[in-house]
Amino acid sequence: MCKTTALPVNQNGGELKGVRGQMLTYTADPFIATDESKCYQYLDDGLIVIQDGIMIDVGDYKDIAPKYPQLKNVDQYQDAVILPGFIDCHVHYVQSPMIGSFGDTLLSWLNQYTFPTESKFKDKAFADNVAKVFFRQLLEQGTTTANVFATTFAESVDAFFEESERYNTRMISGKVLQDRNLPDSLKDESAEESITLTEQLLKKWHHRGRQLYAIVPRFAPTSTDKQLALAGELYQRYIDQGVYMHTHLDEAYGELAWVNQLFPDAKNYTDVYKKYGLVDNHSIMAHCCLVREDEWQTLHDCDCGVAHCPSSNLFLGDGEFKYWEAKNPRRPVRTGMGTDVGGGTNFSIPRQLNEAYKVAMLQMKNLDALKSFYLATRGGAEALHLEKTIGSLAPGYEADIAVLDLKPSEFVEWRMQFATSIFDKLFILQTLALDTMNKATYVAGNKVFDRVRDKKFMYAADFTSPEKA
Ligand code: GUN
Ligand code: ZN
Repeated sequence: MCKTTALPVNQNGGELKGVRGQMLTYTADPFIATDESKCYQYLDDGLIVIQDGIMIDVGDYKDIAPKYPQLKNVDQYQDAVILPGFIDCHVHYVQSPMIGSFGDTLLSWLNQYTFPTESKFKDKAFADNVAKVFFRQLLEQGTTTANVFATTFAESVDAFFEESERYNTRMISGKVLQDRNLPDSLKDESAEESITLTEQLLKKWHHRGRQLYAIVPRFAPTSTDKQLALAGELYQRYIDQGVYMHTHLDEAYGELAWVNQLFPDAKNYTDVYKKYGLVDNHSIMAHCCLVREDEWQTLHDCDCGVAHCPSSNLFLGDGEFKYWEAKNPRRPVRTGMGTDVGGGTNFSIPRQLNEAYKVAMLQMKNLDALKSFYLATRGGAEALHLEKTIGSLAPGYEADIAVLDLKPSEFVEWRMQFATSIFDKLFILQTLALDTMNKATYVAGNKVFDRVRDKKFMYAADFTSPEKA
């Protein structure tokens, strides 16, 4: 397994912590490997040793445990699968209050539900409250990193990162840039002002603890050429520091027609962003349902990441993502999963895998659990260019962990007796898709969510002063 440089992400005085049980992690991309059985490591009885928020050793319990006689604090899981924490590559926390709004196609859904809801985030107290609820949903579902849209207002960004800091989660977010074709209550005052504010927020939050900043033009139709140009300039100035660019691309037919009308000179939708310097190696494109071959080639050449958001695509009746095109071995594109809440209908990455399988089946392909759980973990980390930091259970990685319950209900427990391999079991979990399937979530080594603990959610500070717990 690959090693990375281990910087403490959680100072706990060097005390060791262990997590023991059946575990699965990926080491390579099974979509492009010649032998997919070499892409993962499965341990029947594994042990992860954690120090200062970093995994310092991972392997068979019988080999690892004797090396750490001082290790006393071990959480042991039976009838569960320990995985890297899930990664949500595209989600709008500000849409949590309108998830499940009765449907329409993308553009009228934005006008009818999304924009009025997002307009409320100028109010910091409102934003704080939504951020709190959102983090609980993510952590309950075993998601430990997400690439998250805030909205126009600085308040929405601060509320998000402040809550992330409380859990010490590794999160990516940023102010949304949008200066045309939306209500005044949500519109940026001017392109210049929006970029100045973005740079202030970037300086405040990027690399503060585990937080990372993204420059976020909502999508081409809601930014003027001037705003896109300034956003591209800013991105190019900060890309070497690991700042992201996050936007929507080729999601729905109505959107594509609008983009063609607004940008008649562009070769294609990707080219609209490319012209402004927005397509580069930290660019994350959500949806990509209607991407054409020349665009896939550009996304590959520029080393972009894409987020597959099937529950949203089904809910909004968009196009269908084609993973076999994204993962064409001649020019593979970094791909992870996204919930796209509130277009998506739940916060669970395994439940997105259920929908991804069905989206593939509708196109006469399929998607097995070996590949789908890769997308949920290491694939997501690759899409975010964080594959040396998160998304794997291996020495040197940040200790972000999900623990899936193989007995989340009486029926699933009964059904599991007929399953043999780990991938059969995971496929059953993703297909029967209960919101209660995640038992526990670790962030930087702290068990911030535990389904059966009295206090289900705990902030990082609760672990340094346990009397507060
Ligand atoms: N395109 C532009 N904005 C949005 C949004 O909020 N959700 C989705 N699904 N697509 C978008
Ligand atoms: Zn979205």
